Amino acid sequence: MPSKRSEQGEVRAVGRGGDAVVETSRGIVLVPGALPGERVELLATGSKRGAARGRLIRVLRPSAGRREPACADAARCGGCPLMIASPELQREVKRSFLADACRGLPGVDETEIEWVDSPATLGYRRRARLAWHRDTIGYRQLHSKRITPIGECIVLVQPLREAWDALRAYLAHSLRGGGEIQLQLTNAERVVVDLRADDHQPPELFEACERLCELPLVAGVTLRTSGDGHAASWGETHVSIQAGASTLLEGPGSAFSQANDGVNEKLIEAVVRLAEPQGLRVLELHCGIGNFTVGLAAQASALVAVEQEPLAAEACQRNLKRLGRKARVTVGNANQPPKGRYDVVVLDPPRQGAKALFEGSAVLPGPKRLVYVSCDTATLARDLQLATAKGYRIDRLIGFDMFPQTAHLESLVRLVRA
Ligand SMILES: C[S@@+](CC[C@H](N)C(=O)[O-])C[C@H]1O[C@@H](n2cnc3c(N)ncnc32)[C@H](O)[C@@H]1O
Repeated sequence: MPSKRSEQGEVRAVGRGGDAVVETSRGIVLVPGALPGERVELLATGSKRGAARGRLIRVLRPSAGRREPACADAARCGGCPLMIASPELQREVKRSFLADACRGLPGVDETEIEWVDSPATLGYRRRARLAWHRDTIGYRQLHSKRITPIGECIVLVQPLREAWDALRAYLAHSLRGGGEIQLQLTNAERVVVDLRADDHQPPELFEACERLCELPLVAGVTLRTSGDGHAASWGETHVSIQAGASTLLEGPGSAFSQANDGVNEKLIEAVVRLAEPQGLRVLELHCGIGNFTVGLAAQASALVAVEQEPLAAEACQRNLKRLGRKARVTVGNANQPPKGRYDVVVLDPPRQGAKALFEGSAVLPGPKRLVYVSCDTATLARDLQLATAKGYRIDRLIGFDMFPQTAHLESLVRLVRA
């Protein structure tokens, strides 16, 4: 018998945030921890951002794709909502995000969704953002200030897991107030630690950072405190990132880097292949430290690369020079790219997408090909609507499982002028 106040429903899908979309007699309720096709019992917990939410009480009819999660903290942490699903079901769920983003758009009916799996489904993640409050270090819960301390995060590469243990042993007792910690792999085996404190920190923390940096595992440590503006660093805080089998990129620890080296290698190869830049004028937007720039520059007749972060753009320029490639790297807003005639545009915006580019830029719709790398299918859907309204049609769609066990998906869409 269902318990008091609980209700039952059928899971119709998993939403982009990773919660199950459950149809109940009262309407749709979003519930973490359930899978498509399941019948569940849930308890309503209220509503957030206009959607009714609930807590899973039990699964009444489990999916054939349900698995025991590999991480003991999976339910409490919430960072890997698909760890309860088989790899096949994870793929099906994420594929549906990309299919939904493109539904009804020109070209999509003739375009099959291709798929690239991650070589590793655990131990793949080369950077992580943690948070602390007093002496508790953990992941910050989505849309919340609460921090979940967890035993071991098994999606991280081994050096990051060891670095997390070292943070607990060396720093936890000296931390004050709250802040964020970024861990990033460098040179495939060491870790750069970047701490940003909201409050003044005691001298013991500075001493602890110095001791942390003496560990062979730790390449460098940065500590910034926003209250009093103190900043200090120890060791080597720049990172070296494997960008494809034979390319090493260098950049500041603050710059963006793709989270999964194995999938990134396949993404770089696909971006360059789909851009077909041989002998063409290419505009690359959101170039970061040059992840795609190096490969595009090897073939394009001219390449203009745009990045808004000055330190990342400088690193991109240095990486090109060191690798003997040529491109014009400019610091600026990708939504207002340098005027010019381009044959191909490659873009890789942050989650917010590139609405202003599609709405207002003088550069479009000139180029014959657009290669769009997206980490958010909601903004991708909006931008594809805008791009197709400008006369483009979809002709390639590839999903990359950059973040196995999570509901995040990296997508690559090529659009050609219709
Ligand atoms: C998803 S990252 C991609 C970086 C790079 N393509 C890569 O694969 O590593 C997005 C990049 O766009 C930059 N960015 C964000 N908004 C921007 C804007 N309006 N104009 C130019 N660059 C921007 C960020 O600093 C970041 O480097």
